[in-house]
Amino acid sequence: MDDQLRRGRGRALYEEIRARVLDGTYGAGARLPSTRACAEERGLSRTTVSAVHEQLAAEGFIETRRGASSRVAAGAMSATEVRRGGRGDRQNPSQARLSAFGERARNLALPGAPAPAGHIDFRYGALAGADFPTLAWMKASRCVERERPPRLEYSDPRGDPGLRRALHAYLARARGISCHPDQLVIVNGSQQALDLCARVLLDPGDLAIVENPGYRMAHHVFGAVGARLLGIPVDQWGLKTGLLARVRNAALAYVTPTHQFPLGAFLPMPRRQALLNWAAQTGAWVLEDDYDSEYRYSVRPEPTLQSLDARGTVIYIGTFSKTLSPVLRLGYMIVPPQLIHSIAAAKQLADRHAASHAQRTLALLLEDGSYERHLRRIRRLQEARRTALLEALEGHLRGRVTVAGASSGLHLVTWIHDVPGDREAELVAEAERERVRVYPLGPLYLPRRGADIGRKSAGLVLGYALLNPERIESGVRRLAASIRRVTARS
Ligand SMILES: Cc1ncc(COP(=O)(O)O)c(C=O)c1O
Repeated sequence: MDDQLRRGRGRALYEEIRARVLDGTYGAGARLPSTRACAEERGLSRTTVSAVHEQLAAEGFIETRRGASSRVAAGAMSATEVRRGGRGDRQNPSQARLSAFGERARNLALPGAPAPAGHIDFRYGALAGADFPTLAWMKASRCVERERPPRLEYSDPRGDPGLRRALHAYLARARGISCHPDQLVIVNGSQQALDLCARVLLDPGDLAIVENPGYRMAHHVFGAVGARLLGIPVDQWGLKTGLLARVRNAALAYVTPTHQFPLGAFLPMPRRQALLNWAAQTGAWVLEDDYDSEYRYSVRPEPTLQSLDARGTVIYIGTFSKTLSPVLRLGYMIVPPQLIHSIAAAKQLADRHAASHAQRTLALLLEDGSYERHLRRIRRLQEARRTALLEALEGHLRGRVTVAGASSGLHLVTWIHDVPGDREAELVAEAERERVRVYPLGPLYLPRRGADIGRKSAGLVLGYALLNPERIESGVRRLAASIRRVTARS
């Protein structure tokens, strides 16, 4: 929750609406009182009420619409149903208890509502459907159908041997990674890799080092197994590894060294070495999340931590969510030899193995060169979008924003000089009125760190993979107008 709301006058309103959505008083689609009416009734400013609505929208409880009252999101209802334990007897729910994990999971927000149709959506983590290599995928998929194996049976939990061979060759070619094919484990996206690591490497109470700000889905997965999170601040070079010296008892450190999420730094070699030395000295594991390294525009690819690691402390995680599609749920891990059996067994316990048909299809794309052809095409497309975004920021907001993390990946960060951090939610709400969805940095900080945001500029994470250059230009123009309106109110 935004720090201003947490401490400020909007808190009671936030809690009340959230509770009413969760207990079903406000059902899916129900209209909330207008911000004007609510502000008058409560003696709050409309800005505060709008910020509360935006926070609830970001958490998936409600949907906000320009010129219309906010409504309870459809997804919020299903979250409510899940929390209640189904549509059964609501007056008399079962008292059967949840595990500690279940309780922690119960408090996590489910995905928020997507931006309404017509909005210009700077979402990161999503790809345009038109960019998927449909023909190549369909062709390969048909070949797999024709294979008609004589037996339909469970296979190796580490994944299809053909895919692991093809991926092994690709990673050596593209990323300079050397490992034994036995070290590769195919998973249902990076998220499952993080989940398997959490189960295999963390006990309740263990300390997990994470970047701050950082990737919330990693924070959640470690927190859900009962680990204590220690956020290490990030500067323009990435994780401040100098601060690790004081930490002797961590079980693992989770890092995004090639393109720090969200701020975008590339971790320089001395810090990489410092991180690996610290891990070797303290006996911690290092989880290297290399989620978007396929997109490096003006910088050379550098060795991964995995390639520098002589001691088997690094678990490398990669994904096809950024190059093919996040809906495929295909990713991979490179696991140090001493961990292979535990991770493979945990994978088997989770779901036996990733779906074979999709694995075989992907193997064919890697083998016949279609995947790399697709990568070359999509890299050009993403680079054009990135250029359009940088030019639009320069054209509409020159001197008023600082851009970070644009040299790789599919998103960048803009710091808005004239808007303080504690007005981020207000800016997001103002942009929403312009039918532009932008994503605030605040929620990506660990909760206690949120207190720091008020002193800095507001920050936005702008993903560009969903938009064509014209929409990007139009989105930034409207964002600039929103910024002007927010600053005019100060
Ligand atoms: C830091 C980070 N890691 C990994 C992923 C990809 O996750 P997955 O492979 O589970 O789709 C994302 C997606 O946005 C991300 O931001």
